[in-house]
Amino acid sequence: MVTSPKSPQNNQASSPPPPVAAGSGPAPLTTEEQNAVGILPASHWTDQPIEEEDTVDDGASSIGSFTSTTASLSSTIFEYRTVHGRTYHGEVGNAEAWEPNDQRHVEAMEIFHHAMLVQLDGKLYLSPLDKKKVHRVLDIATGNGLWAIDFADEFPNAEVIGTDVSAIQPSWIPPNVKFEIDDCNREWTWAENSFDFINMRMLVGVVDDWDRLFRNAFRCCKPGGYVESCGSSISFLSDDGSVKEGSAMDQWGKVFTEAGKRLGRPFTLIEDDLQRKGMEAAGFVDIEFVDIQCPMGVWHPEKKAAERGLWYKIAIEADLEGYINYLCNLVMGWTPEETKMYAAAAKKEWNNPKIHGYFWLRVMYGRKPE
Ligand SMILES: C[S@@+](CC[C@H](N)C(=O)[O-])C[C@H]1O[C@@H](n2cnc3c(N)ncnc32)[C@H](O)[C@@H]1O
Repeated sequence: MVTSPKSPQNNQASSPPPPVAAGSGPAPLTTEEQNAVGILPASHWTDQPIEEEDTVDDGASSIGSFTSTTASLSSTIFEYRTVHGRTYHGEVGNAEAWEPNDQRHVEAMEIFHHAMLVQLDGKLYLSPLDKKKVHRVLDIATGNGLWAIDFADEFPNAEVIGTDVSAIQPSWIPPNVKFEIDDCNREWTWAENSFDFINMRMLVGVVDDWDRLFRNAFRCCKPGGYVESCGSSISFLSDDGSVKEGSAMDQWGKVFTEAGKRLGRPFTLIEDDLQRKGMEAAGFVDIEFVDIQCPMGVWHPEKKAAERGLWYKIAIEADLEGYINYLCNLVMGWTPEETKMYAAAAKKEWNNPKIHGYFWLRVMYGRKPE
């Protein structure tokens, strides 16, 4: 399960464009800019003959209730922006989320949490925590809060705080969990030396400055405490060339990479080794990492790897359009129809057992010296 990734591809420009101003939304990449980095014109996807059963089901389903757990939230927190019928976190502070925060996506996040547990053999974390010494825990960008809830169940004597810009966490939670609205890209207001463990899972495309994120985490972590970051690479690779140039899976990495540059929030966490650089610069020691190769789909001959690929595929397909809508539409300038056809082509590829695409998941953790 654990193997070494290929050398990081340094495919980012040496100086990224300035972040998009709050409230204005990103200016879409021009056709020339897209051509220059190998992104095919959107019409390529609408020109493909796609059968009816290949199109992505966008029928929304609903679960649970959408309730804030933070009583004092200002009403602006619920002012979402809408892009092609999906809602996104509105501009509170300078936060701009590329993932929807609507019911459909929250449901997909539940599957995603399970998929992540499958990737880590059922573990919530890999840091060498001493259970007796874990009293206060912070989960940055907690999403629907399931990691925080599960962690609180496993550590009933610890207080677990989950933060996010969207109030999408459930209200029925263990007594030792609380959720707060917070933008992780601002200076953290938590007291110095106040957490035994800080978790950051899947913050790709969320963080504008990874060095600052780890500096904040270092300051707020107690001496002897751990910070852990789990994230994925954004490009699909294949060892046998079955992810072909110009295929939908090949384009996925290019679209996300360029969109991340335009938004000023990189998706190239693994490709640019941002976890290690940030942790080292902040002063963490005993930095360790585990790389997990995640097949996309069920093509892998090894049962455990195929299971990881199955769950990741299910998690993404649970809201495939939600994952790409914002980036394809607002950043690439594609129409909903073009986005939908691209999604159908990507789904068709990773469901094809002859295409052996995979990506890397990296869990990195470090200790604050005593
Ligand atoms: C990919 S989800 C990960 C959720 C969770 N950590 C997990 O692993 O299941 C990214 C989360 O980051 C949140 N987010 C986006 N921008 C943020 C910011 N500036 N500060 C805090 N959270 C943010 C989104 O609302 C979303 O819930």
